[in-house]
Amino acid sequence: MLRPKKILITGATGLVGSRLLRHLSMHPVKCYAGRRPAGREPADLPPSVEVVPFDFAEPDTYTSYLGQMDAVFLLRPPQLADVARYFEPLIHRAQDNRLKFILFLSVQGADKRRFIPHAGIERLLRDSGLSHCILQPSYFMQNFEQALWPDLAERREIVLPAGRARFLPIDVEDIAALAARILLYPDAHIGQAYELTGAERLNFGEMARQLSEALGEPVTYRPVGPLPYYLRQRRRGMPPGQALVMTLLHWLPRFTPTPALSPVTEQILGRPPTPFSVYARRLARRIRAATP
Ligand SMILES: NC(=O)c1ccc[n+]([C@@H]2O[C@H](COP(=O)([O-])OP(=O)(O)OC[C@H]3O[C@@H](n4cnc5c(N)ncnc54)[C@H](OP(=O)(O)O)[C@@H]3O)[C@@H](O)[C@H]2O)c1
Repeated sequence: MLRPKKILITGATGLVGSRLLRHLSMHPVKCYAGRRPAGREPADLPPSVEVVPFDFAEPDTYTSYLGQMDAVFLLRPPQLADVARYFEPLIHRAQDNRLKFILFLSVQGADKRRFIPHAGIERLLRDSGLSHCILQPSYFMQNFEQALWPDLAERREIVLPAGRARFLPIDVEDIAALAARILLYPDAHIGQAYELTGAERLNFGEMARQLSEALGEPVTYRPVGPLPYYLRQRRRGMPPGQALVMTLLHWLPRFTPTPALSPVTEQILGRPPTPFSVYARRLARRIRAATP
């Protein structure tokens, strides 16, 4: 029976990693927050968490201590696309050290879109012989607090090239809670790849309506074409690669059937995934707090 006691969390300052640390810190495990030396300082860390240096681009940052870990939560930072350069060194060192378990945060559809970097990391893991599990989540609700935030906070607008395409928004809190369970009790999940979705299939017009209701004032969805959207993001200072990914992420679903809802989130959490309306109330509080 595998019960990891020492767990390294990559992306510790990110949406999923920061919440995962909070969940794991309620259990008798030792968590190590991997911090990129040139990156952000992890904020509000539970006291039991130890910060260690970790940079995918500098394997020397983690080589000395990786052998002491039982498990790793692995993600792909959005700007790192070269799988051989950034992820192979980690997997090779994990093999050398006989790491017991890796949980990889991939993305929904990675197995069908073999050109995206996540697909390469999934292949690397499958070929590695390491015990692992792959999470393939759908669209994060918390994107509203990241790339979509300026339009929302300043003009109560959602501006995207998504047309009427439906997404399956999932609460990152649910992903983190589920990831914590898998890391604490990995046995039943070894070798699995789980598609994770929220509870509903919604387009951005429908999400705007739910948000308007929660906020008590109108939030408008303004669909735009892919090129104007890309140029708008560039004007706002988004790097070209990230602007392209953001454009494709919202534009491509217009041309494919909406994926089915997955039962896995509920099966592992033991409760239904958070509905968008509940997240919308949280987001509305944040918008109000940011309004002068
Ligand atoms: N957004 C969505 O809708 C969605 C849906 C499905 C899957 N995903 C996938 O989820 C992943 C992102 O997860 P997230 O949103 O939790 O992360 P995030 O908030 O984008 O944060 C990225 C994390 O990676 C760290 N990082 C950046 N460069 C690094 C490096 N060279 N070495 C080590 N760490 C580095 C960052 O640290 P610093 O703070 O120091 O920069 C940060 O902690 C992506 O692979 C994305 O494709 C996203």
